[in-house]
Amino acid sequence: MTRPCNDSFLRALLKQPTAHTPVWLMRQAGRYLPEYRETRARAGSFMQLCKNPGLACEVTLQPLARYELDAAILFSDILTVPDAMGLGLYFTDGEGPRFERPLREEWAIRDLGAPDPWDHLRYVMDAVTEIRRALNNSVPLIGFSGSPYTLACYMVEGASSTDYRRIKGMLYDRPDLLHHILSVTADAVSAYLNAQIESGAQAVMIFDSWGGSLSAAAYDEFSLQYMQRIVGNLIKEKDGERVPSIVFTKGGGLWLESIANIGCDAVGLDWTIDIGEARRRVGERVALQGNVDPAVLFASPERIAVEARKVLDSFGPSRTGHVFNLGHGISQFTPPENVTALVDAVHQHSRILRRQS
Ligand code: CP3
Repeated sequence: MTRPCNDSFLRALLKQPTAHTPVWLMRQAGRYLPEYRETRARAGSFMQLCKNPGLACEVTLQPLARYELDAAILFSDILTVPDAMGLGLYFTDGEGPRFERPLREEWAIRDLGAPDPWDHLRYVMDAVTEIRRALNNSVPLIGFSGSPYTLACYMVEGASSTDYRRIKGMLYDRPDLLHHILSVTADAVSAYLNAQIESGAQAVMIFDSWGGSLSAAAYDEFSLQYMQRIVGNLIKEKDGERVPSIVFTKGGGLWLESIANIGCDAVGLDWTIDIGEARRRVGERVALQGNVDPAVLFASPERIAVEARKVLDSFGPSRTGHVFNLGHGISQFTPPENVTALVDAVHQHSRILRRQS
């Protein structure tokens, strides 16, 4: 059997009892860690780091060496998929991601195809294999992808955006073109996540970072529907173990019930919603992941512990169904020692709650 020694993360997602509430952090391997900055400098650039399985494995393990995290997440980026589709991803210092060939012309959109992950994204599969070997079944490994709508935001805008004017212009003027991009991307993401599962990812997460910028109707039509298609396409079991899926729409609190209905095992929450209320709204249908404000990590260790306990208390007495996380990625300006306070508070307080219940 390939169940990890510490399987609390997988158990919580599958709503099986655990001795403590498992915790991991979005972007747990990143610039707030000096050892990450050192490896990135050695790699030469962020993309060279992503494309080198040995170095990607090294940085994946860095936060686990410092903190008692209950899961590892593959070190990569959501934009590797559009890069493999031929859009030419690059990063400029201080400006974030950019594409050399954003999708602006109808012919380019009609030409778009789903890449074979075993060919164009082989470096990701090699990283997954190498990380699993290095983890040696200590904790589970999470694979991930961007949602079709979030990927399309970057593919159409060509960079990060504040107003999404190009993609939203297309959404209202040429919904047929946007649906074509989303459909091809949903096929690409399905194949990509399944290849990660085949390579050893034990759970998968879909990051829908920008779905929350849509109207309620547009969210259903242009984001949720495609995530539902992907979840339906996923390999559900590997080596006799269920492979749970997590769907995270930042800003999706208003649509929680709809998200919980697409067949995923867990819903990720940002920090704007109370997790106890979220739990009452979705009932036992799905597990919940989240949701402390990442800015809490700028406060003192004592305050961090208080805020972690508030989230656990709000979720309420239960032995399962909650994976503790931030409501979004950790800031690059987080003092690394503050993460220790958070992780330790989650483990300690969730053990106390279990003794009381
Ligand atoms: O969680 C993890 O530790 C796994 C690694 C991971 C990264 N990006 C590493 C990364 C994951 C899961 C992502 C997902 C990702 N990438 C998302 C979805 C999650 C979210 O934050 O909403 C998005 C939107 C991206 C696109 C992206 N990649 C942006 C906007 C940036 C620039 C960010 C910035 O602040 O400059 C990246 C780069 C990136 N991805 C970094 C890391 C550690 C920093 C790059 C560096 O080292 O310079």
